[in-house]
Amino acid sequence: MKGLVLSGGEGTRLRPITHTSAKQLIPVANKPVLFYGLEAIREAGITEVGIIVGNTRKEIQQEAGDGSRWGLKITYIEQEAPLGLAHAVLTAEEFIGDESFVMYLGDNILKDGIKDLVDEFRSERPNSQIQLVSVPNPSQFGVAELLDGKVVRLEEKPKHPKSDLALTGVYMFDANIFEAARAIKPSWRNELEITDAIQWLIDHGYEVVPHQVTGWWKDTGKLEDMLEANRLILDTIEERVEGEVDEASTIQFRVIIEKGARIQDSVIRGPAIIGAKTILRNAYVGPFTSIDASCRIENVEIQHSIVCENTVISDHPSQRTFRIEDSLIGTNVEISRTDRKPKAHRLLLGDSSKVELP
Ligand code: DAU
Repeated sequence: MKGLVLSGGEGTRLRPITHTSAKQLIPVANKPVLFYGLEAIREAGITEVGIIVGNTRKEIQQEAGDGSRWGLKITYIEQEAPLGLAHAVLTAEEFIGDESFVMYLGDNILKDGIKDLVDEFRSERPNSQIQLVSVPNPSQFGVAELLDGKVVRLEEKPKHPKSDLALTGVYMFDANIFEAARAIKPSWRNELEITDAIQWLIDHGYEVVPHQVTGWWKDTGKLEDMLEANRLILDTIEERVEGEVDEASTIQFRVIIEKGARIQDSVIRGPAIIGAKTILRNAYVGPFTSIDASCRIENVEIQHSIVCENTVISDHPSQRTFRIEDSLIGTNVEISRTDRKPKAHRLLLGDSSKVELP
C-alpha cells in the first residue's frame, strides 16, 4: 500500500501567511502540520509516499526532504494547478500504479493517527473506505449520508446537509478510483471533487465502507481551526525543560522549553512550547501558546496564539501593554514600540493581513 499526501492548493483562507508560505508548513506546537500526516502514515506501516505539490513545491521539499528521517521514501508529484482532490489523484496515477493507497490531506490532523483505519482497510479490502466524524457544522465539509450502515450519498459542502457526518481528509482507495476520477465532471467551483468520484464508485456497484473516527480530527484550513489544533496538540505534551530559566521566572503546568531558549524574568503558564534559541524577557506566555525557534518576546503578554520562527515582539519595559491573544503571527515579523513622533501606528502589512486594536 502507498501513501498520497495532498499538499498543493492555494490556502486562501489563511492569507496573508499563505502568500509567502505553504499552509501545510504552518507550525502546530512548533511542528509543520504536514509532518503530522507523514508520521501517521509511517506509523500505519506505509513507507512509499507521494506528495502532491503546487507552487509551494520548493519549500515543502526543503522541509520534508526525501523522507528518510521518518523512514519514508518520498516522491514529489507536481499538480499543474489546484483543480480538485480527484484531479490530484489522477496526477498521481503513474506513482500509484495498480496498488491500493491512503490519501491524506496535508492540512488535516487526526489525534489517533490512521493505523487502525489502515489496518481495517487492509483486512476487509473494500474498494474504498471513508472516515467520518459527527460535526456541528457539516456544511463546511463533504457530507455522507448512510442507510443501514452503508454509504448511499456524498455531497460536497451542501447548503442543506442530510447528516452531520463530515468526511475527514483521510481516504482509502484501490485502483478503481482512477476510472471514477476520469468519469466525473468539474463541480460548480470548477474542481474535480473526490466526493463525486466516490459517489461514482457507489453508483457503479463498488464497495465504499464508512469508518467513524472516535478521536478528534482537525482540518486546519482556517485561523480558528489552526489555533484549535494547536490547543489540542499542546494539551497532550509532556513537560520538558532544556533551555535556561532564570530565578526570576516561573514555569507553571506543562511547558516545553527547547535547547538554547532563554527565559528571563517571565511567567509561562502551560500548556505551551518555546522553541530553540527563543528569548523571553519580562513576558507572560499563557496557555495554548506556541512560540517557534529564534524569536524574541519582550515586555509582552501573549496567550492562545502561534508565533512562527524568527519573529520579534517587543514593548517598552515601562509600558508593557502589548497583550496578544487568538493570533497567528508569521515568520520574520516585527512588532515593536517606538518613541518616534508623531505618535502613530506604522504598519507594513501584506495583502489580506488583519490587525485588531483595542
Ligand atoms: O478536510 C476535510 C475536507 O477536505 C473534506 O470534508 C472535503 O470533502 C474535501 O473536499 C476537502 O475540503 P477542503 O475545501 O478543506 O479542501 P482544500 O481545498 O482545503 O484541500 C485540502 C488539501 O488538499 C490541502 O492540503 C490542499 C490540497 N489540495 C487541494 C486541491 C483542491 C491539493 O493538493 N490539490 C488540489 O487541487
